[in-house]
Amino acid sequence: MMNRAFARRAVRRFMPGEDLDSALEAARVLAGQGLSTVVTQLGENLTSLAEADAVREHYASAYDRIATDGLPTWPSVKPTQLGLDLSFDACLQNLIALADKAGSVGSMLWIDMEDSRYVDRTLDLYRRLKEPGRGPVGLCLQAYLKRTPDDLRSLLPLKPAVRLVKGAYAEPASIAFRAKGDTDVAYERLARSLIDAAVREEAFPVFGTHDIPLLARITRYAKDLRARDGAWEIHMLYGIRAAEQRALASAGRRVRTLISYGKHWFPWYMRRLAERPANVWFVVRSVFA
Ligand code: FDA
Repeated sequence: MMNRAFARRAVRRFMPGEDLDSALEAARVLAGQGLSTVVTQLGENLTSLAEADAVREHYASAYDRIATDGLPTWPSVKPTQLGLDLSFDACLQNLIALADKAGSVGSMLWIDMEDSRYVDRTLDLYRRLKEPGRGPVGLCLQAYLKRTPDDLRSLLPLKPAVRLVKGAYAEPASIAFRAKGDTDVAYERLARSLIDAAVREEAFPVFGTHDIPLLARITRYAKDLRARDGAWEIHMLYGIRAAEQRALASAGRRVRTLISYGKHWFPWYMRRLAERPANVWFVVRSVFA
């Protein structure tokens, strides 16, 4: 499927191109529209630590490009792409190197949250990265996991930067909410805790969602608590709710677009289709375009 012209056409809606140049060009265009960005390279499972080293070097050079081009862009990485399946320590060292690099060029490092097998180890990585003297790092937490309120409570003493998302993986009912309504309620509750912490200057929340009514309620809550405008951000994916992203930025919200790039887009693209079955019609239309 990845080699079919119709699939490549359809995936372009969510991804400006397969290489860093395309992602940074899109970041430059979005910056002109008042939108900052996050970039992430899509990857496949690693079979050696040498591949993880190559991913680290790729992101290190991305930081240099971002600094040279003066872009308001933060990279976001997956721990498995930096070797977590092969060695916790090697992955930690790779992340430390990237956090230091981020700090040296005035940028930031974000860590994605993968499926539930990785949550404990990813939290451990984050705790190690928050030790004094390390570069600025943020972590994604998933509202659909029943454990997340406890995880957030345990992280708050570290003054974390947290990107709250609903969660994208198929998880069992024993550990995750299966009904969308339950996840939405959990998300709003966690969002309020994060805003409370932001007001106390104990967290930097990012709300990674395209759920506009939910974002409106969070914004109202933040305003009621007089949270500073720069104290929290909204992040959305490239190609989804693009007009709303621009409208929110025009209304004074801090909005970032997450741009994915890379050759290994198939599993990631399937998650985007699964989130909204209507997207499948877009693919079908592309077959006949
Ligand atoms: P919800 O699914 O309720 O959608 C709200 C509305 O948004 C829909 O009605 C639809 O209009 C629109 N929409 C949502 N998804 C769409 C799509 N694919 N195509 C078209 N329209 C769509 N997950 C994870 O497990 N780990 C991670 O690290 C991250 N990182 C991340 C970063 C950022 C910036 C974002 C925005 C999202 C993630 N995610 C993630 C994905 C997240 O968990 C979730 O699967 C998606 O954001 C979809 O859920 P929403 O919050 O948008 O709500």
